[in-house]
Amino acid sequence: MHFIKWTTSIAAGVLLILTTSSIVNAESKEKALLDQARSLFKPLPDTAHVDDYPHSKARLELGKALFFETRVSTDGRMSCAACHNPSYYGADSLALSVGVHGKKLPRNAPTVFNTPLLIAQHYGGNRVSVEEQAMKALLSPHAYGNTSYAEVEVKLEKLGYEKKFQAAFPNEPKAISAENWATAIGAFERTLLTPAPFDKYLKGDQKAISKEAKLGLEKFISTGCAGCHNGATVGGQSYQKFGIVEDYWLATGSKEMELLKGRDKGKFHDTQKPEDTYIFKVPQLRNVAVTPPYFHDGSVARLEDAVRVMARVQLGQKLNDIDVANIVAFLQTLTGEVPPQFATAPSLPVAGFQNLP
Ligand code: HEC
Ligand code: HEC
Repeated sequence: MHFIKWTTSIAAGVLLILTTSSIVNAESKEKALLDQARSLFKPLPDTAHVDDYPHSKARLELGKALFFETRVSTDGRMSCAACHNPSYYGADSLALSVGVHGKKLPRNAPTVFNTPLLIAQHYGGNRVSVEEQAMKALLSPHAYGNTSYAEVEVKLEKLGYEKKFQAAFPNEPKAISAENWATAIGAFERTLLTPAPFDKYLKGDQKAISKEAKLGLEKFISTGCAGCHNGATVGGQSYQKFGIVEDYWLATGSKEMELLKGRDKGKFHDTQKPEDTYIFKVPQLRNVAVTPPYFHDGSVARLEDAVRVMARVQLGQKLNDIDVANIVAFLQTLTGEVPPQFATAPSLPVAGFQNLP
């Protein structure tokens, strides 16, 4: 009798030790993953504003109005929002964007959220800041189609923007200018940050993301994805070759494009340097789950397939379905909210309305 009692209590004790140690083990494993994640990624900052571009309420309001203003484009239809739309998380959901006068662009529109935090703008990095990007879009034959900044300034005056520019740029003798258009739009873009469940996790809330997402995060790191997709924007901080192990188009089915005289060679189109062939800015992965289709030409429709393509052409690996599903669960934790100041309608001047062109 005694003997049985004794052995039962030993067995119970061993069981208790085993379960406690497996809980401790699981806890320390979770802690190790969080530590590793913190060494590779960072939560989004509270602001992307920099001292070079001071902002005020009037400037942000102007920037928002200009972001949605279509009447400055040469067909009266294009605005930043035409291709970076609140309904599509700051992108346009098309494989290739459609520009002024219905012209197809050679590239897919990335989301405009969090972009001030990237190393540079565009896949080739040919725009250093969001301000330079906004200014050059005015003269791009694909985006707005204007031929000179003077032409743009006349349009803004005719549309009745004088007061809004004066409020946003007080004490400037000539408030309406292409530079100020860019500064105002940039100031607005710098407010479009999208904190997500992953930020909560990085700040220590272990329950902010699911078990699958944690397995996915672990796989994302151990497979080597985080070697290129890291930092606060989970990418967007370096330039890398697309197609390290094999030509990218074998996996994506990317087509040759007349405008590019063949396949997209990335940075090469901007620099003409042979060493820049097939070098692209690594895209940020924030909001990637809600901004299909994928890659510079929107050649891949589903995120699962984009993950498989990456493992294959960048790392020479074949992921199984469970790993892919877990990585996708992790990528979903990078989805934030559409910023409320972006989702509401802007107020545009109607005083000087002219039916352009
Ligand atoms: C006709 C569609 C279209 C219009 C209009 C347009 N964009 Fe874009 N935008 C794109 C495409 C396509 C790209 C990718 C270009 C590339 O990488 O070569 C892009 C890239 C960007 C980027 C860089 C994102 C990144 O991750 O590198 C920013 C920022 C941006 N646009 C902001 C704007 C702003 C601000 C305006 C208005 C002044 C604007 N865009 C007008 C289609 C458009
Ligand atoms: C050697 C650097 C590198 C590695 C490693 C890497 N990527 Fe990428 N990733 C890139 C580049 C560059 C692009 C842009 C390709 C293009 O569209 O031209 C990209 C694009 C993507 C895209 C599409 C984003 C969009 O908005 O279109 C996803 C998703 C992605 N990577 C996920 C992953 C995953 C998951 C892994 C690991 C299996 C991974 N990447 C490994 C460099 C890398």
